[in-house]
Amino acid sequence: MSQDHCCTKIETIAVHGSKGFDPATGAVSFPIYQSATFKHSALNVSTGYDYSRLQNPTREEVENTIAKLEGGKAGLAFSSGVAAITAVLNLFHNGDHIIVSDDLYGGTYRLFENIVNFHGIGHTFTDTSKIENILESITENTKAIFIETPTNPMMKVTDISEIVKIAKERGIITIVDNTFLSPYFQQPLLLGVDIVVHSGTKFLGGHNDTLSGFVVLNDEQLTEKLRFIQKSTGGVLAPFDSWLILRGIKTLHIRMERQQQNALAVAKWLKGHNSVEKVYYVGLPDHEGYETNLKQARGFGSMISFSVKDKALVEQILSRVKVVTFAESLGGVESLITYPQVQTHADIPKEIRDRLGITDRLLRLSVGIENVDDIINDLKQAIEI
Ligand SMILES: Cc1ncc(COP(=O)(O)O)c(C=O)c1O
Repeated sequence: MSQDHCCTKIETIAVHGSKGFDPATGAVSFPIYQSATFKHSALNVSTGYDYSRLQNPTREEVENTIAKLEGGKAGLAFSSGVAAITAVLNLFHNGDHIIVSDDLYGGTYRLFENIVNFHGIGHTFTDTSKIENILESITENTKAIFIETPTNPMMKVTDISEIVKIAKERGIITIVDNTFLSPYFQQPLLLGVDIVVHSGTKFLGGHNDTLSGFVVLNDEQLTEKLRFIQKSTGGVLAPFDSWLILRGIKTLHIRMERQQQNALAVAKWLKGHNSVEKVYYVGLPDHEGYETNLKQARGFGSMISFSVKDKALVEQILSRVKVVTFAESLGGVESLITYPQVQTHADIPKEIRDRLGITDRLLRLSVGIENVDDIINDLKQAIEI
């Protein structure tokens, strides 16, 4: 019997996935169906699998698993988070307008600013954590609102239910990038959101060993359109990468809890350090979005941004950290530190970065599952010479 009817709790779904094992052999680790194509025994006879761009059993298992985790009806797996977001943006046409969080992953900014707009799709970047900004940005052509919450890298929190209410009254589609909290902490579809996107490269995979992206949704018509876009544009997740994500997801809940526990301790330590100017962590009660996040999510995650008082400290920290790795990306078991201004957010113009707070003194930390004292001592020796 498949696991489909046996579990509703998120930890159990994470461990057992959708089918949970290979129905053909009983293999407990879902097999990697490393095949590009599938044999037909006769004309018009199919096993349900014809060609791996259209569907592959390993990809299907990870797609159904993410759908269950998010409380959605359908999941679609892509080769990266950016590929997943691109597929969603292919739903829109010349003349359409999209409202977008102004503080967001630099690659998503680049997509709106340098790719999607050349197809005649307009957009307005605004601080979506202030509902009045959304109301002011709506035009008669607005077809979607795209938000990150918490945002990357300034950790702003948008009230998801408020956005859904405004959007539903006007027939506007809501899209949430749920990468930072993962379905373990936040399930936007259950709050009425239409489409959830993920960089599965981050918390879902959790081991910094593969790229992936996901789209999760409930609406059948939208699902049909996205499946068509997926097979037509072709940026699908490979069987081996699907398996790596399935394996990563098995420990999602344990990793998320430990990472959050470590992050809270690190955020408090940073806050008390006299070389640190400001700490942006949603789990600190004085964070502007603390209450809103508490209302719509079960946790705060493990992403911290902080600004140092002296710019010279940036280079010093990045070259001295040892337990924490100076590398792009986030969400994995290893703690990573990045310099958004020159890495993840380099494509955002300086005046916008300055307005948002992405300055030459801002660092972003993804807290991993190492011993928390080792993480803090590492940051201490990197900051204090
Ligand atoms: C919030 C967010 N969304 C999307 C992406 C893009 O994902 P990928 O790098 O898997 O294409 C990233 C990457 O850092 C991200 O941080």
